[in-house]
Amino acid sequence: MEALQPLIGTWRGEGHGNYPTIEAFDYTEEITFADVGKPFLVYHQRTWAPDGRPLHVEMGYLRTPSPGVVEITMALPTGQAETGVGTVAADPFQITLDCVVASTPSAKPVTGSRRALGLDGDVLQTSYAMAAMGLELQPHLTSRLVRQAAG
Ligand code: HEM
Repeated sequence: MEALQPLIGTWRGEGHGNYPTIEAFDYTEEITFADVGKPFLVYHQRTWAPDGRPLHVEMGYLRTPSPGVVEITMALPTGQAETGVGTVAADPFQITLDCVVASTPSAKPVTGSRRALGLDGDVLQTSYAMAAMGLELQPHLTSRLVRQAAG
């Protein structure tokens, strides 16, 4: 768990999304990583369109089963669930995760994803690539978030 400590807190900023099948878009994002006294972090994400409409949300968990290894479990209200494994490095702090995605029958088909989180001081850079709509893994999202004051 110690390896994930730098993430604990709330992060907020702007992001940009794209995919070959859709129009490009901008969004505001807020992510919280919470320590609940167990050997994992609780992850909670919300996003908004530039006009304030709620966009994507997701919730999940991050844990480090062994040194340098990180695992993720993520639930999406759009009918997908992601599980993945990857690496966590300390200096500079960087997480990269490759995930298998299961989709419910009515969900848009997503089969895999790659999530990356990079920390530089109080700035958290995120990226998300997905294999979706029958296409190979390619970028969907990038965002740049700033650490919010506690309280
Ligand atoms: C920051 C988080 C995210 C935001 C702001 C976001 C936003 C959007 C927007 C605006 C669209 C186009 C309009 C629409 O179909 O609703 C879209 C499409 C899509 N997104 Fe995301 N998304 C996010 C995360 C994800 C994640 C984690 C997945 C993985 C399951 C995902 C999968 C898709 C798929 C499959 C489409 C449909 C593409 C199509 O219809 O051709 N999105 N997203």
